Amino acid sequence: MKKYHVDFGEVAGSIDDGMTILDALRAARIEIPVDCGGRGTCGKCRVQAAGELEAPAEAEKKLLSGEDLKKGIRLACRARVRGAARVGFMGATVSSEIAPFRMEYVPNPGVPADTFDAPGAAFGVAIDIGTTTLNARLADLKTGEVLASVIAMNPQRLYGADVASRINSIIENKGSLEVLHSIIVSRVQDMLDALTMGRGASAADIRGLVVVGNPTMTHMFLGIDPRFIAPAPFVPPTSRALDVDAAVVGLKASEGARLLVLPAVAAYVGADAVAAALRVGLHESGGPRLLIDLGTNAEMLLSVGGAIFSCAAAAGPAIEGARISCGAAARDGAIDRVSFDSEPFFSTIGGLPPDGLCGTGILDSVAGLLDYGVISPEGRIEAPSAENISSSLRKRIRELGSAREFVMAALGECGAARDVVITQRDVREIQLARGAIRAGLEVLIEEAGVAAEKLEAVYLAGALGTYLRPETALRVGLVPDIDPSRIKFVGNAALDGATEALLSACRRERAYTIGESVKYIELSSAPMFSESFTSFIRFPEK
Ligand code: FES
Repeated sequence: MKKYHVDFGEVAGSIDDGMTILDALRAARIEIPVDCGGRGTCGKCRVQAAGELEAPAEAEKKLLSGEDLKKGIRLACRARVRGAARVGFMGATVSSEIAPFRMEYVPNPGVPADTFDAPGAAFGVAIDIGTTTLNARLADLKTGEVLASVIAMNPQRLYGADVASRINSIIENKGSLEVLHSIIVSRVQDMLDALTMGRGASAADIRGLVVVGNPTMTHMFLGIDPRFIAPAPFVPPTSRALDVDAAVVGLKASEGARLLVLPAVAAYVGADAVAAALRVGLHESGGPRLLIDLGTNAEMLLSVGGAIFSCAAAAGPAIEGARISCGAAARDGAIDRVSFDSEPFFSTIGGLPPDGLCGTGILDSVAGLLDYGVISPEGRIEAPSAENISSSLRKRIRELGSAREFVMAALGECGAARDVVITQRDVREIQLARGAIRAGLEVLIEEAGVAAEKLEAVYLAGALGTYLRPETALRVGLVPDIDPSRIKFVGNAALDGATEALLSACRRERAYTIGESVKYIELSSAPMFSESFTSFIRFPEK
């Protein structure tokens, strides 16, 4: 088989004849957005390519404009390499750097930390394996002190933005499970090294690890085939807590270091949800309380009278910025906060020129556009001629045939290198996500026999649950219409819960009890779900 040289600028790779640019990127471990997992449907894997390439494939002709193709823009997952090639990026490579984590762990009062009685240094690590990001914390097992935290992108993003795309990759490509397993273990190992480096220690001083994540992620991390999670009846190979030697997974830690995966509840309510429930004390007595981990699958747990009910709604990746035309991960240059007056005002992460919208930016935008009448409660972007909209906002509405879009930042505005827009289709994606979350919640509330207005607290967890504004969550109707003071943002409660389970045997036991006692409701077999879904597509009136 002929091999060709592919030049990516600072690095280069080689590739077999007829493989795609995406294959070469994967081999070189260069990460670009690959939301559809390389199926040629999302259009996110745009690169600038030159050299000996096959003529554009049908999907490229459909997803790229004639102008794009003339400039040499190609879809990495479709463009096949037939000789030496050069590839440039469209400002969208994802850093694989492991960065210090900014959120600090605040210990729950009353959580006993067990000290670890053994000679020498003894570190433990809590890890949350998210579909998009990986978070890890290092703790001293002798003192219970949390010493450092790091965050990194999940390298499996090169195989799709959501778990369904990655499971598809395993089903369709022999050897894909081994690749997905090895790249995530290798990234976690790098994180362990980064955490211990500079402390006069190494990963060999790590004596224990507690891992949480959604079931697809934890299965892949352990090297277990997750394919049966995807189709009905959605049965994961295992949902029990697992305690294995870290070396069995492929991690280098101290000899005999234990790796504990907390239990899951069901195929889409994972150890991350159990850990988050542990953190916010859903098992403790008190009034009705709801926990929502906002993500591609919104995991919801409702505590009523000592019982915990749960479900998972397939919200899709839109509220995290994927499958949105200018959607972006929460990285430098992403618009993360928006407010409106006569014009939209926004901030970007790192203060850089805007080049996309992350989850909070999209939800803030939709909330503001609803308030200012640019988007109707039905989710329609109004015509530029609509008289109830201020002229400055009307100027930002574009008509493209039968479709409309709202321009948040035009090319050149605030240094933008391209138009950053919200399209009619993007609004529809947010409506679908909202509809799924609220319909799931209706089923849960009905099953638990409690009225939404009786909820004492709604805990919002996950990356969005750190930065989302209560008024935005209420305006777009992600949560029931309750007093904003009852909405509590609890950040990465899953990692906090995993940290508690790492430091305390009593909290670990509690996590096992939660995993066993939560009552799971499968929404696909709940007749009320589809009826409610349709009614929750409409945004709340002001
Ligand atoms: S179109 Fe290439 S990854 Fe989606």
